[in-house]
Amino acid sequence: MKRKFQLLTTCCLILSVLACKPDSCPEVPMGCVPQAGSLTDIPFDVTPATLAIPSNFPPMVVPPDNPITEQGIDLGRRLFYDPILSADSTQSCFSCHLVAKGFADGQATSAGIDNIRGTRSAMPLLNLAYNNRGFFWDGRTGSLESQALLPVEDEIELHDTWENVICKLTNHENYPAFFRQTFGIEDKNEITKELVAKALAQFQRSIIVGNSKYDRFQRGEVFLEADELNGRDMFFDLAFDKNRFPDAECAHCHGGPLLTFNEFRNNGIAAATTLEDFLDLGQGEVTGILADNGKFRVPTLRNIELTAPYMHDGSLETLEDVIEHYSSGGQNSPNKDPLIYPIGLDSIQRTEIIAFLKILTDTSVATNPAYQNPF
Ligand code: HEC
Ligand code: HEC
Repeated sequence: MKRKFQLLTTCCLILSVLACKPDSCPEVPMGCVPQAGSLTDIPFDVTPATLAIPSNFPPMVVPPDNPITEQGIDLGRRLFYDPILSADSTQSCFSCHLVAKGFADGQATSAGIDNIRGTRSAMPLLNLAYNNRGFFWDGRTGSLESQALLPVEDEIELHDTWENVICKLTNHENYPAFFRQTFGIEDKNEITKELVAKALAQFQRSIIVGNSKYDRFQRGEVFLEADELNGRDMFFDLAFDKNRFPDAECAHCHGGPLLTFNEFRNNGIAAATTLEDFLDLGQGEVTGILADNGKFRVPTLRNIELTAPYMHDGSLETLEDVIEHYSSGGQNSPNKDPLIYPIGLDSIQRTEIIAFLKILTDTSVATNPAYQNPF
């Protein structure tokens, strides 16, 4: 159907060009030509979304001009999975954010449509509705709405233009009705990139993960194995016997119900002799403050078992490598966090911390029908 429609518009264009006199010919736009069309006979009546939110989670950060609705989540999910957002229709958000991998891609760095690789690892898209400290590893965008505007025109990611994407959506057989039902637009030509971004943000806010074995333990529903409990005690520094169960310092940065406070810290991944030396400046590139160089956003550890390799550059392959990193105190640099020092964990302690990290896995994200590809 879509094909037929495009053929039809191309034919009309050719006909109208043939019909005019050479010097009065209208300029023929290249590529997609947006079509107008009233949508007012489609009802607009949104249903506020009901999301299953774990009782121990903090309040969500939802902008007042983009409340989460059933219609918005549905439209956002389609856009998330639809390669219509990429220049050659081969990639979607899903290409780098896979549902089975906690919405990360299981690769150190991610390749976009022209197979060019970025320098940073794709991030898991979990519990993003609770972050108000900025998105990306370096915090360069403040809201999910502004974040969602970026991948489409990013030359490494979807590498299209918004003008073209909006045109494709406007001429699509289904999308205009979905935008009508979600945002109440009255004509096809009212679809904008801002509305696309709002729908994508609504879908991403609906991805809530909080039913791991650890959560069920917190709610008193299950017991933990001895090694998991020992790991928890070191992670949160809960034990009395500090020789057997030393403070592994993790929870100072990866604490609270989200297992991150979303702060920016330098955990010793890159070596640098001066603050100017970092290969990737991280937060410093965004704030322009020298002391922020080499700092990255502390990621959640929920579903960490599913999202190897680790760190912004994907430089650590396994959880064993991660524990080795923290146990040895990482690389030195002038603003390395004081909590990162050689803790010296033995092999039993390492296995126990990893056992704890593994009970943070909530596989329901991979099977929950609400998050799957609708196509
Ligand atoms: C080519 C791979 C690729 C594609 C396609 C892609 N992303 Fe990403 N995404 C990444 C990478 C890499 C990062 C981390 C980038 C950084 O921090 O500089 C990221 C980060 C994000 C973040 C930030 C998460 C956080 O916790 O701060 C969000 C949200 C996101 N992407 C959503 C999307 C959406 C929505 C789309 C589709 C419109 C999309 N991505 C398409 C690779 C991709
Ligand atoms: C000083 C704060 C701090 C402490 C303490 C800390 N981390 Fe981190 N952690 C970070 C930061 C910052 C990152 C991201 C760094 C980067 O990507 O360059 C990170 C990344 C990680 C990652 C990779 C996440 C991903 O999605 O790639 C894991 C796993 C991790 N930390 C586990 C731990 C464990 C286990 C402990 C305790 C042994 C710990 N961390 C202690 C700040 C900290």
